[in-house]
Amino acid sequence: MKSLNFLFNSLLILAFVSFLNSNSLSPSAPVVVSSIFTLTGHTQPVYAITYLNDSHLISGSGDTKIKMWFNGTFITDLGSTESPILSLITHYGFFPISGSKNNNIRIWIPKLRNAFVDFSKQNGSILSLATLPRFLIASGSSDHSIHIYNVTTRTFIRSIQSNSSVNSLIFFKQRHLLAAGYADSTIIIWNYRNGSEFTRINGHNGSVYALVMLKNGNLVSASADKTIKIWNVSIVPPVLEKTLTSHNGEIKCLAVLLNGNLASGSTDFSIKIWDVNNGSVITTLLGHNGTVNDLAIDSKGYLASASDDKTIKIWNTTIF
Ligand SMILES: *[C@@H]1O[C@H](CO)[C@@H](O)[C@H](O)[C@H]1NC(C)=O
Ligand SMILES: *[C@@H]1O[C@H](CO)[C@@H](O)[C@H](O)[C@H]1NC(C)=O
Ligand SMILES: *[C@@H]1O[C@H](CO)[C@@H](O)[C@H](O)[C@H]1NC(C)=O
Ligand SMILES: *[C@@H]1O[C@H](CO)[C@@H](O)[C@H](O)[C@H]1NC(C)=O
Ligand SMILES: *[C@@H]1O[C@H](CO)[C@@H](O)[C@H](O)[C@H]1NC(C)=O
Ligand SMILES: *[C@@H]1O[C@H](CO)[C@@H](O)[C@H](O)[C@H]1NC(C)=O
Ligand SMILES: *[C@@H]1O[C@H](CO)[C@@H](O)[C@H](O)[C@H]1NC(C)=O
Ligand SMILES: *[C@@H]1O[C@H](CO)[C@@H](O)[C@H](O)[C@H]1NC(C)=O
Ligand SMILES: *[C@@H]1O[C@H](CO)[C@@H](O)[C@H](O)[C@H]1NC(C)=O
Ligand SMILES: *[C@@H]1O[C@H](CO)[C@@H](O)[C@H](O)[C@H]1NC(C)=O
Ligand SMILES: *[C@@H]1O[C@H](CO)[C@@H](O)[C@H](O)[C@H]1NC(C)=O
Repeated sequence: MKSLNFLFNSLLILAFVSFLNSNSLSPSAPVVVSSIFTLTGHTQPVYAITYLNDSHLISGSGDTKIKMWFNGTFITDLGSTESPILSLITHYGFFPISGSKNNNIRIWIPKLRNAFVDFSKQNGSILSLATLPRFLIASGSSDHSIHIYNVTTRTFIRSIQSNSSVNSLIFFKQRHLLAAGYADSTIIIWNYRNGSEFTRINGHNGSVYALVMLKNGNLVSASADKTIKIWNVSIVPPVLEKTLTSHNGEIKCLAVLLNGNLASGSTDFSIKIWDVNNGSVITTLLGHNGTVNDLAIDSKGYLASASDDKTIKIWNTTIF
C-alpha cells in the first residue's frame, strides 16, 4: 500500500500539472445529429459516465463494474465494487472517482487497474460527487450530508448537514462556493470551506437531479418537475432568468456543449439540445430505450449518454 500511495501521489502531481496546461478548447464546427456509437457490455443500467483525459470514457453501472472505452470500443474493466455505481467524476483529468449505492467512494488508477478503497464515512448511497480546488472533493449522500475529503490523503475534512438527499453538486469556480440540489426541490449554495450556507434557491417543484454552470456564470438546474431553470447567481438571492420546458419526463442530467448551449437527458428517453439564449429546443436526440441517466462531453464536442437501457451512446454534437 505504501508504494501504491507513493505512485498515486506522483501521478496526481503530474496529472495536476498537465491539467493546468490543457484548459483551452478549440471552437466548434458544423453538422450531424445521430449517435455515432452505441457501447454495449454493461448488464444493468448505466448510471454514471465521465471523460478521462478528454478521450477515454469511464462508465459505472448497476452491474457494479467500471468500464473504460475509447473511440467507440471497449478497452477494459477497471474493476468492480460490491454495489451499483451511482456517481462518477474525474479528478484533475486522470483519476476516476466513483460513488456507490452502499457508501463506497473509490479513487481508480487506470494505469494500475487498481483503486483506493472506501474512505467514505457517510451512511447512505453516494448520489453525487464534485471536484474542488486543492485536491478536495465533495460527496453528496442519501443520508442528507455532504462530505468534504482530501483526495491526496484520503482524509475527511467536514460534513455539511441538511434534511434531504443530495442528488447533485457543482463547484462555482468564480466564487469558491458549492451548490447542492436536493430531493426536496431545494438548491442550497454552501461555503464549503467553513460549512456555512451562502444562499438558497426555492423554485423547483420536484427533486433537483442535476446542476451545471454555463460559461457566463449562470447556474442551471434540472428537476423531476420536467423543467430546467437558469439562475443568475451573481445576485443574492439568485434571480430566475429562464425556465426551459419541453421534456415529457423528469430531467435527470445536464451537460454544457462547447459553444455554451445545453444538453439534457430525461426519463422520456430523449436528449434535448437547447439554445440557452432564447430557451428554444434546437434538436431532440432519440435512440435510447430507457431513462437517460448521465451525460458527458469531451473536448472535441462528442456527447456521451448513459441509459437504463444498459448502453452508452456517443453523439456528434459539433454543430450545436
Ligand atoms: C462530426 O461532425 C463533424 C462536423 O460535421 C465532422 O467533421 C466529423 O467528421 C464528424 N465525426 C464523426 C465521427 O462522424
Ligand atoms: C476511431 O474509429 C474510427 C472507426 O470507427 C477510425 O476511423 C478512427 O481512425 C479511429 N480514431 C482513432 C483516434 O483511433
Ligand atoms: C488517457 O488515459 C488512458 C488510461 O489511463 C491512457 O491509456 C491514455 O494513454 C491517456 N491518454 C492521454 C492523452 O493521456
Ligand atoms: C452515521 O451513523 C452513525 C451511527 O448511527 C452516526 O454516529 C454518524 O453520525 C452518522 N454519520 C452521518 C454522516 O450521518
Ligand atoms: C490536501 O492534502 C495535500 C497533501 O497533504 C495538501 O498538499 C493539500 O493542501 C491538502 N488540501 C487542503 C485543502 O488542505
Ligand atoms: C429542510 O427543512 C426546511 C423546513 O423545515 C425546508 O424549508 C428546507 O427546504 C429543507 N431542505 C433542505 C435541503 O435543507
Ligand atoms: C464562512 O466564510 C464566509 C466567507 O469567508 C464568511 O462570510 C462567513 O461568515 C463564514 N461563516 C462562518 C460561520 O464562519
Ligand atoms: C407541484 O407538484 C404537485 C404534484 O406533482 C402538483 O399537485 C402541484 O400543483 C405543483 N405545484 C406547482 C406550483 O406547480
Ligand atoms: C447577473 O445579474 C447582474 C446584475 O444584474 C448582471 O450584471 C449580470 O450581467 C448578470 N449575469 C448574467 C450572466 O446575465
Ligand atoms: C433561438 O435562437 C436561434 C439561434 O439564434 C434561432 O435559430 C431560433 O429561431 C430562435 N428560436 C426562437 C423561438 O426564437
Ligand atoms: C425497449 O425496451 C422494452 C422494455 O424493456 C423492450 O420490450 C423492447 O424490446 C425494447 N426495444 C428495443 C428496440 O430495444
